[in-house]
Amino acid sequence: MIEVSAPAKIILFGEHAVVYGQPAIAVPVSDLRAEAVVVASDHFSIVAKDVSNDAITLDSANPLAETARLALNHFKTKTLPIKINIESSIPIASGLGSGAAITTTIIRAISAFLERDLPLNELNHLVYEIEKIYHGTPSGIDNTVVVYERPVYFIRQKPILRIKNFTELNLLIANTGNSASTRVAVSDVRKLYDAEPRRIKPLIEQIGVIASMARQAMQHGDIAQIGHLMLENQALLKQLTVSSPELDTLIDAAMQSGALGAKLSGGGRGGNMIALVSDDTRDQVKNGLLAAGAVQVYETTVTKD
Ligand code: PMV
Repeated sequence: MIEVSAPAKIILFGEHAVVYGQPAIAVPVSDLRAEAVVVASDHFSIVAKDVSNDAITLDSANPLAETARLALNHFKTKTLPIKINIESSIPIASGLGSGAAITTTIIRAISAFLERDLPLNELNHLVYEIEKIYHGTPSGIDNTVVVYERPVYFIRQKPILRIKNFTELNLLIANTGNSASTRVAVSDVRKLYDAEPRRIKPLIEQIGVIASMARQAMQHGDIAQIGHLMLENQALLKQLTVSSPELDTLIDAAMQSGALGAKLSGGGRGGNMIALVSDDTRDQVKNGLLAAGAVQVYETTVTKD
């Protein structure tokens, strides 16, 4: 039996600004995954209950079918007698990269069944093509961190930089329970930028400075500074109109319960926020988030690769 998977991701710093060429930091969340099991069948189909109640076939008008067509085309194959069963523990449309993880899993399933090698850079390229269907003009950060499954310091269209030897970070990821479209949030920021470039451009550049300072703070193990930078990044994201009352409530609750820093993660307007905690404060911050209305709180530790 063939089993393949891909992780969720969170953006620690720099979402939205990354679309404009600023650096951003993203890390995989290896405990939350999209997983696929490939079984023999008389025709090609994908079963992904999170995404669709019906089995998806190759002619479906669906990004998962598009993914399969892209992968088969890459391997110069028309169809395959397989069923790809996908189970994912990653909440959809909530800033955790569920789309990129499912896409990666489908392509890995097809390449594994065909016993064809697929280097990570080629896989990354294919996943990016599908990200365009989901997001319009994606920066490429989601597919990169999900495919390579390691922390990245990402600048659009530049070689991926690693963040070496940084101190472990304990994070809580809390879901507002509201899904939100990254495509809409990205396009609204673009409209704002076009309407008021003199006000918006410096905000975006400031986010880039914060991401670069955060990389240094991570490498120096300066946890207090990382928390402080998360709050500064959040204040700028709020000015870009991508926070939401629910995100603000969870961020306030995290800070009041002892978090070192907190911010939204991903496209915003809903979805998930992240809070930086220590071993001593983890439980109280988790309780604070749940009391403030978080529908799920995940614990994760970000470690160097
Ligand atoms: O909402 P997510 O997890 O897909 O994150 C999107 C990140 C953005 O910077 C808002 C968009 C992008 O393409 O980088």
